[in-house]
Amino acid sequence: MNDNLHQLRCFGCGAQISGAEARPDFRCAECGDLFEVEYPGWARRQSHDRPNPGALKWLWRERKCSSEALDNSGVWRFRELLPILDNFGNAVTLREGNTPLYALPRVAKALGMDQLFAKHQGMNPTGSFKDTGMTAALSVAHERGFEWVACAATGNTYAAMAAYAARAGLRSLVLIPEGKIAWGKLAQAMDYGAVTCQLKADFDGCARVLTQIVREAPIYLLNSVNPYRLEGQKTPAFEIAEAFDWTVPDHLIVPGGNLANSSALGKGFRELRDLGVVSRLPKVSVIQAAGANPLVRSFAANGAKTLEPVEAHTRATAIRIGNPASWRKAARVIEESGGWCLDVTEAEIAMAKAELGAEGLGCEPASAVTLAGLKKLRAEGKVRSAESVVLILTGHTLKDADYTIEFHRGSLLSAEEAAGNEERIERLRRNALAVDATPEAVLAAMKGARA
Ligand code: F0G
Repeated sequence: MNDNLHQLRCFGCGAQISGAEARPDFRCAECGDLFEVEYPGWARRQSHDRPNPGALKWLWRERKCSSEALDNSGVWRFRELLPILDNFGNAVTLREGNTPLYALPRVAKALGMDQLFAKHQGMNPTGSFKDTGMTAALSVAHERGFEWVACAATGNTYAAMAAYAARAGLRSLVLIPEGKIAWGKLAQAMDYGAVTCQLKADFDGCARVLTQIVREAPIYLLNSVNPYRLEGQKTPAFEIAEAFDWTVPDHLIVPGGNLANSSALGKGFRELRDLGVVSRLPKVSVIQAAGANPLVRSFAANGAKTLEPVEAHTRATAIRIGNPASWRKAARVIEESGGWCLDVTEAEIAMAKAELGAEGLGCEPASAVTLAGLKKLRAEGKVRSAESVVLILTGHTLKDADYTIEFHRGSLLSAEEAAGNEERIERLRRNALAVDATPEAVLAAMKGARA
């Protein structure tokens, strides 16, 4: 059976090639830009390849009751919209996706809203949204017979890659920047058996070295320049639309690092709309850390026509990226959907993260930029109180426990970073208390503790 209906289209010059023709670095031979997966049969109204919206909705819901591994995956459950394999039997899955959509009642109340939700992608098998992309792209590598896969990463990508490679029996190579990495993620790469090299370079430097390596050796590149990653990462858009009974929320708020995820989610909603499954797009807003905000600067400078790389600094290490590969795709999603691109400070990220923790959710610092960004959008009147909003939480809180502990101990932010927010930060802190080993002392500590 050949399920494969896709081709690749260059985002820059529009060149169309077959999947097999892509170069190892996934850059266009004509103009050097990135490719996007497209499905030519969908555009033709009468085509047999064009999926039928009513049938799809029914089929996807039925699969929730199935015991087949592919149907249990929140990515492959939607396989009619990602026909990228010759045979779906080659898919490598860890039952990713199907992540929870939580209401955020306390945060919503504080912001004067009544429809605020968090789609928690940290509830994936390796603890981040990267699993949805990795199951797609690694399945392609597996089907095409590669022995080695590789990525340069700030953390979550390599944790996901190493796990899926191990499942498929492939070897994996990880290039990571020296220092400033979250230990939980490195531990995962080791556990899943990756060959891990720490380079004296930042993320962008690691990505450059890896691009040279894959041009010379038969290694399959799994960075997000690989367009198949985005096919998996678009599926949370389907889950969100399904949860909203095939309408869409008014706003979707996404963290921005290398800018693939916002691009992928935007693509997912666009495809649903073009196929007639939903009738409109949510406004997609992308939030960056103020110390790693090249897209925000690019919008301010020239409406995102060009992008100047920046030297990136932020304690939210997952989005410490100064030269994002997918910036053009993300800019298009923001523009076509009517969303915004803005940045938030280190203190705003830390406070938002603590507030999400206090809702019983918790997330990585990089995920908390979404709530920090929403507060700004509310303050600027860009999100109205009656509108529905979904925050994309990208990673699990245990990925970077050091960050959380430092915040609650009071050692995360410098006086300069905390300036103006000291009281609010103090109210959010819950440091462990040193207490005598007697019932009286513990009861007294409980009485004195802040609610
Ligand atoms: N949130 C988390 C937890 C991430 O790990 C990343 C990216 C992002 C947000 C940003 O997503 O890059 O698609 O805009 N982490 C990458 C990595 C780059 O290497 O693990 P993006």
